[in-house]
Amino acid sequence: MAEEKLLLAERAEGDPAVAVLTLNRPKALNALNAALLGELADTLEALDADDEVRCVVLTGSERAFAAGGDIKQMSDSTAAEMVKRESPNPWKRIAAARKPLVAAVSGFCLGGGLELAMTCDMIVASETARFGQPEISLGIIPGAGGTQRLTHAVGKARAMELVLTGRQISAAEAFDAGLLTRVVPEADYLSEAVALAGEVARQAPLAAQLGKDAVLKAHASLLEVGLDYERRNFLVLFSTEDKAEGMAAFKEKRKPEFKGR
Ligand code: CAA
Repeated sequence: MAEEKLLLAERAEGDPAVAVLTLNRPKALNALNAALLGELADTLEALDADDEVRCVVLTGSERAFAAGGDIKQMSDSTAAEMVKRESPNPWKRIAAARKPLVAAVSGFCLGGGLELAMTCDMIVASETARFGQPEISLGIIPGAGGTQRLTHAVGKARAMELVLTGRQISAAEAFDAGLLTRVVPEADYLSEAVALAGEVARQAPLAAQLGKDAVLKAHASLLEVGLDYERRNFLVLFSTEDKAEGMAAFKEKRKPEFKGR
């Protein structure tokens, strides 16, 4: 039997200028493992080189955009192994995409899933979407922009609460906080995202790419320093007993007992 594809890539029906990428690990709630992130980065680079495509929609399933980095993969990884895997870092390759990216989000959008959505340029969410940075409950912190892009999007007060408690928020709360472009009924989130991408795709392509580039420059120098800083703290936590306990507890479906070492 052919292996299931981790990432589905197609063109929007009736609009070949819009590419639709679908994260496809439904049994793991689209947990982002190294293979999926690598494939996403490869695909975005290929789409950047494809003149027919002018805007990209990234989506998951109704139940989950993505429930985070793959904890089962990370639980077996030491800090040293994580550091070795840093080059090239797929998150940096995804963030370097030149064409505008619209995240179409339904269901769980947590941890690395939220970081991925925030790496996109706009987020269209279903009313049922849930957002959060639950890494602290695993004894780690966000490691792909969660402490940085979230703070830029919603401000220190709210970002701090989400990062330090792991609380999930609804689409309505996320919209009020400034995280989302639009919230729509669950039946419409993908078609709305494709329509928004179509609107972008009808604009002058170079202007759209340079407009994106310029908006991203609003925080670029701060963001670059912050992302590197976050990544170092993230990697340091992979050498703690609390990380091992937090991830073992997730896999064993029990509450972790953290000891501060
Ligand atoms: N990694 C690996 N597997 C995951 C996963 C993840 N992030 N999230 C869910 N899964 C798996 C579950 O282990 C489960 O698999 P099994 O059937 O083999 O047990 C399957 O997906 C379905 O999940 P649940 O049974 O847990 O579904 P639920 O509806 O009861 O709960 C949930 C849903 C609240 C999202 C829960 O799955 C959950 O808490 N997931 C983890 C969320 C999280 O902590 N994310 C942060 C990850 S760390 C990170 O992202 C670091 C980074 O910055 C890169």
